[in-house]
Amino acid sequence: MLYIRRSPIIGYFCSVKPIIIAIDGYSSCGKSTLAKALAARFGFAYVDSGAMYRAVTLYFIEQQIGLADNDAIEKALEAIHIHFEYNPEHRRNETYLNERMVEDEIRSKPVSDLVSPVATIKAVRTAMVALQRKAAINKSIVMDGRDIGTHVFPEAELKIFMTADPLVRAKRRFAELQAKGEKWSMDEVIENLKERDRIDSTREENPLRQATDARVLDNSYLSEQEQLDKVIIWVKNLLSART
Ligand code: CDP
Repeated sequence: MLYIRRSPIIGYFCSVKPIIIAIDGYSSCGKSTLAKALAARFGFAYVDSGAMYRAVTLYFIEQQIGLADNDAIEKALEAIHIHFEYNPEHRRNETYLNERMVEDEIRSKPVSDLVSPVATIKAVRTAMVALQRKAAINKSIVMDGRDIGTHVFPEAELKIFMTADPLVRAKRRFAELQAKGEKWSMDEVIENLKERDRIDSTREENPLRQATDARVLDNSYLSEQEQLDKVIIWVKNLLSART
């Protein structure tokens, strides 16, 4: 069984129809950074759908579940519980796998190397998409991932497709990993991003695609604040068009 525990970050839009903001794009484009900042700015909930696929991958690694073993995968999905909690001390949302905080482990190299193959598995996607849709019931939400605007919430009012120069993305991810003390070489980072983008864009089940009604945001040369300012205007315009 999979469930999501209500995070302390709860949308304030009680009297207004909840809004869904879907952010999709390539690996390490800064989707989560933008999604978190946007959610904080408007008081919306935030869900990192990639963290869910990463948590499942960590479980598969720890339990030595073969990616072709359908029975074991079905059983594993029944045994996996994922939820998110906001940690005020670290000022971040943290991912829990079966009540264990795994926010750092799910960003490790073994998980990053295996997550895209795991995310091609139909049963895994079906379970995660159900969980993602449940997370958005009756609340305004910002969710980032690969198929949020195309498959999870095709009705989302604002869809953003993020992209950035591959070398800029690799440099950002390399700096992030170094800051965490993770030992990746630049070549390993480049290879991981390239391979995940390839698998994510070519898989059969809900591949990474730009939704036809998505706004494209290339942030190769934008600072975090600049991209946030741009998107805040989009959201404000959307909200004022509703009233
Ligand atoms: O590294 P980055 O933050 O860009 O990736 P992530 O959002 O943590 O997602 C990790 C992996 O999960 C992706 O490379 C995809 O293979 C998979 N994923 C997916 O298939 N669908 C989603 N909605 C989100 C992530």
